[in-house]
Amino acid sequence: MLVTEALWVKFKIGHLGKTPTFALMKYLLVLAFGVLVVACGQQCEKHSSSSPAGNPADSELTLYMRHLEKQAQAWRDAVANGGTVAVQPEMLDSLFTAVPTDGKIGDSVLFSNFGLAFKQEVLALNTSTPQDLSSHYNLMVTACVNCHRNFCPGPIKRIEKLRVSEGI
Ligand code: HEC
Repeated sequence: MLVTEALWVKFKIGHLGKTPTFALMKYLLVLAFGVLVVACGQQCEKHSSSSPAGNPADSELTLYMRHLEKQAQAWRDAVANGGTVAVQPEMLDSLFTAVPTDGKIGDSVLFSNFGLAFKQEVLALNTSTPQDLSSHYNLMVTACVNCHRNFCPGPIKRIEKLRVSEGI
């Protein structure tokens, strides 16, 4: 015991007071942070479109979101080309009923509030004047992002690409 303590003291002096435990802790902290950042970035991107046929593990909500994204791309193209958007309100129902990967989400009041806010923005496209359509459309994209910030930050960059330039 004494010998190891003596060696320890010698080791500490040899390192000018910097204990290796401190260095190790710093290393572990940096490592843990790195893992966290990677994990957050990948959230909800695990099975992303790499397999077009889908993955058997994809949740109902994931499949619905891919469908919704395709719809939004069609709306974007219509808006960008000066056309109109006609959305069937029923196509939004599954947002509230599809089973998510994380079961806790489905029961969350926050999720349904973001969902309702999103629904309102989508339906506003149906009644928007041609002049306001691009700004309404971008508000709808913001409503996608608002929910994603809380529940699924992974695809936000991808969603941001759906925006159109306003005032064209
Ligand atoms: C009310 C919340 C909410 C709204 C609004 C919402 N999303 Fe999502 N989205 C989610 C959640 C939660 C997931 C993760 C689903 C899961 O893992 O089951 C998801 C997943 C996704 C994915 C990943 C699918 C994949 O391949 O893994 C994309 C892309 C996506 N959403 C795009 C959109 C777009 C585009 C809009 C708007 C047109 C939108 N979302 C609106 C909550 C929302």
